[in-house]
Amino acid sequence: MTWTTVTLLVLCGVAVTSGAKPNIIFAMLDDAGWYDFQSHDPLMATPRIDQLRQEGLFLDNSYVLPMCAPTRAALLTGRYPHTMGAQDGNAAGTKKLFWPNETFSMLPGELKGLGYKTHMLGKWHLGFCHPSVTPLGRGFDTFHGMLLGSHLSYYTHTKGNANGPYDWWNNTQPDLDAKDTYNTELINDAMVDIVQQSQADQPFFVYMAFAAPHGPFEVPQHYVDTYCSHVTEPARRIHCAMMAAVDEGIGRMIDALKAKGIYDNTAIVVTSDNGGPVGSSNPSGSYNYPLRGGKKTVYEGGTRAYTVVKAPGLTVTNATWSGMINAVDWMPTLLHMAGGNAKDWMHGINAWNKIKKFGVSARKEMLYTYDDYFKFNHCAYRMGRWKLIQGRPGFHQGWYVPQNLVDAGVAENTPLAGNQDFTHFELYNLHKDPEERKDLAAKKLEIVQEIVGKIEALLDLYPLQPFVESEQSDSWTTSVDGVKVLSTCWCHPENSADTPDCTAA
Ligand SMILES: *[C@@H]1O[C@H](CO)[C@@H](O)[C@H](O)[C@H]1NC(C)=O
Ligand SMILES: *[C@@H]1O[C@H](CO)[C@@H](O)[C@H](O)[C@H]1NC(C)=O
Ligand SMILES: *[C@@H]1O[C@H](CO)[C@@H](O)[C@H](O)[C@H]1NC(C)=O
Repeated sequence: MTWTTVTLLVLCGVAVTSGAKPNIIFAMLDDAGWYDFQSHDPLMATPRIDQLRQEGLFLDNSYVLPMCAPTRAALLTGRYPHTMGAQDGNAAGTKKLFWPNETFSMLPGELKGLGYKTHMLGKWHLGFCHPSVTPLGRGFDTFHGMLLGSHLSYYTHTKGNANGPYDWWNNTQPDLDAKDTYNTELINDAMVDIVQQSQADQPFFVYMAFAAPHGPFEVPQHYVDTYCSHVTEPARRIHCAMMAAVDEGIGRMIDALKAKGIYDNTAIVVTSDNGGPVGSSNPSGSYNYPLRGGKKTVYEGGTRAYTVVKAPGLTVTNATWSGMINAVDWMPTLLHMAGGNAKDWMHGINAWNKIKKFGVSARKEMLYTYDDYFKFNHCAYRMGRWKLIQGRPGFHQGWYVPQNLVDAGVAENTPLAGNQDFTHFELYNLHKDPEERKDLAAKKLEIVQEIVGKIEALLDLYPLQPFVESEQSDSWTTSVDGVKVLSTCWCHPENSADTPDCTAA
């Protein structure tokens, strides 16, 4: 070792330890709807998430994409998913998804560069055909969770059917001991471990990606009995209990941070990857009331995410920050929180200074999503108060209201199915009409045209990389100790010139 190296090491050590960089925990629920939290529906049991809301801020104009994998892609790259072929929900199985690309790296890798220890818990869903596209390949130091988007059961951790491959990991090894333990509780336990084992001289980042309350709709009975027995609608009672299990994990995390004396220097974000699934084909018990639509629609119910931020340095707390923030903004925002800067390949805007000072958001316009996949074929764009939808808004287009509110005569349940094509337009004034009840497209043609021009300009600047349907593979599984597990090595180099051989990795 030369003296230069020693000096550099010392300097790096000082740089990392001297600033009180906040720990950052980004907790993302899967399919939690706008009305699925206690502060919106008093029947729900999420007191600890509510505590964060009171000690921090509620963000009521926080937007995500209408499906899970695209939101995760936007969050972890700060880039529009349509520029990476990641705009569609099915993208997760695509073998070339986010192939390692020297042009951009992911959030954990960037935070590592800022001195953070990086941990991932729960659902990845951003590719798994090669070690380099798994969480450890993307810059996480540790990974406890699942590579796929959902399982047959929250206890078996297997995909598809009882004989499906096992998918719960401890870093690169299948964690067979996790079998029969409830998915959410595995995440909750691991989160407490991370806090307890954290070192005072190194900040940490945790991407706490709950699989809940996504289906299958399973939960240990004691959560139902303790928190949700008063909920009469059967699917919502289970949903309430799945949310309560998540909330218990957030609570245990808060308690562990306090016990360790680092709660005040920890930034915590809680949000959802898309709105709650609604409609006849989704008996999830989730609601986005009073918003329209849900998961897989570009209506507000699919895209406006219940979001809470508690962080050191907030000048105002226990309040609602109404600035517009989009999924692509989180990466530059979190990098600024961590003392870094946005990179030129990111499409998002740093919102941290505005959130911290309770200022006016720099974001005035926003792309909701651009999905060219034939099942969706939709796009939506926000310009100030105006929202233009182009194409098929989504699968379930009505207003879905919890049964207790219908019974009480508070609101009407108005389910609508939809099948418009890409030439269809809808225009809403969200300031006056946040429930998207009055389509003004026919009346305000000049605004429709103005926003169409904005979408075209954005696509010129950030071109579409078409979504490619997954290649089927017969080799997604392998065997470890006689157990069938998910394989992380099934890209076939012979099928693609730019795919490295993963056995050589
Ligand atoms: C937040 O505001 C509510 C309503 O004013 C109040 O009841 C509650 O005690 C406040 N919470 C905190 C932590 O200040
Ligand atoms: C990486 O991605 C960017 C943005 O999509 C693209 O312009 C570039 O060609 C890619 N580089 C490689 C080596 O694939
Ligand atoms: C994960 O693996 C590491 C290293 O082998 C081990 O120390 C640790 O206890 C394991 N964690 C779990 C939750 O099994």
